[in-house]
Amino acid sequence: MKNLLMTGGTGFLGRFFLKSILETFPHVEKIYLVTRTPKKYQSHKDFQYPQIIWIEADLSDEKTQGHWAHNKQYKDAFQNIDTVIFAAALYDVKADFETNYRNTILTLENFLHSIELFPKLKNFHYISTIVVQGLNSSLLPEGPIISKPIFQENYGHAKFLAEKIFENFQSPIPFKKIIYRPGMVVGDSHFGEMDKIDGCYYVLKGLWRISFLLKFTKYFPWNFQIPFPIAFKDQTHLPLIPVDHCTERMCQIMKCLLEDEHYFGTYNVNNGISYFTLVSDEFPSIRYFLQCYTKYHGYKLNFFPVMMNFFHQWLFRLLGIPPEIYPYMFLETVYPQKYTEKLRSKIRPSQFDHYKEKIFQFPFSNSKDS
Ligand SMILES: NC(=O)c1ccc[n+]([C@@H]2O[C@H](COP(=O)([O-])OP(=O)(O)OC[C@H]3O[C@@H](n4cnc5c(N)ncnc54)[C@H](OP(=O)(O)O)[C@@H]3O)[C@@H](O)[C@H]2O)c1
Repeated sequence: MKNLLMTGGTGFLGRFFLKSILETFPHVEKIYLVTRTPKKYQSHKDFQYPQIIWIEADLSDEKTQGHWAHNKQYKDAFQNIDTVIFAAALYDVKADFETNYRNTILTLENFLHSIELFPKLKNFHYISTIVVQGLNSSLLPEGPIISKPIFQENYGHAKFLAEKIFENFQSPIPFKKIIYRPGMVVGDSHFGEMDKIDGCYYVLKGLWRISFLLKFTKYFPWNFQIPFPIAFKDQTHLPLIPVDHCTERMCQIMKCLLEDEHYFGTYNVNNGISYFTLVSDEFPSIRYFLQCYTKYHGYKLNFFPVMMNFFHQWLFRLLGIPPEIYPYMFLETVYPQKYTEKLRSKIRPSQFDHYKEKIFQFPFSNSKDS
């Protein structure tokens, strides 16, 4: 891997990915980073690598393709690109479908329309998500989603459609397609670093908002724990993965595939596409997550599950938890990861108990929308 083009490299996942790439592949020569606003990032500490070359482009704009095709500088640069990492998307469960369509589907479609500009492309890594499974409880296969999923939010729906576009794209250049489906990505395992509120942070932020009330429970005598009903299913798990574990695993997968494209044995079974689900080796049930949270803060509370009801819809709204994530509190999906055994010696174990405190330390008082 010598010359790489990356979209979404300025995002939360992308920044950690960039770091992992440079650690895993120190000999990479050039990294073309596509962003709508290079000026915003050029002087940022996370992007001070001599390999980075900025490309200003809004991929949702159909003119981008023509602009690249008629610009000699871009054409010459793209000639030598052997790897594409496509992570650009809108990650916002609250956004409407049109905005999701523009930034998740159109961005990919426009990029694929430019594919002839990359004649030496060998590997195309597409970052999808486990929510392409929608609300189909059961098992997320490391392969194409066959049954039509049900969606109650636009992000998952748009990502599902984009994944299908990528899978079905007939390319004139014979590159290999690799699809990664990260779970609920949380802050990094060392410092809990996170720059936005999403996934389980909505719940944590909701609890932080009422922490002035929860603190009173500390003064209850003995070990009496106040029962606190919350709408979730006891069997539901939170498929978490710290961002650094996620990007480290993607890089190790990339490395193994470069050395031997049949390394994981998945290549031939799925129409020449490799799929990887990325969740921690051990991730918590919602009940355990909440128990650990109360223990961490010393609250004397016992969260227990109830079905969704009018009161909880009202409570969740009050706590700022968006309705789009309620259905995920009742899912019972299983996430097999065939590759992890093979990578055991190359990746760090990823266990909730080891990084949970870093997540609970997230400083909501400083967060953008606190
Ligand atoms: N975070 C998670 O929990 C999670 C979980 C599973 C999967 N994922 C997937 O991982 C990828 C990255 O997610 P993230 O959390 O890092 O998102 P993010 O922080 O919101 O970053 C989004 C990235 O996409 C780029 N982008 C969006 N629209 C674009 C457009 N029209 N033209 C060019 N670039 C555009 C942005 O670039 P500029 O703003 O610089 O232009 C930015 O780099 C996404 O594909 C997401 O679906 C994320």
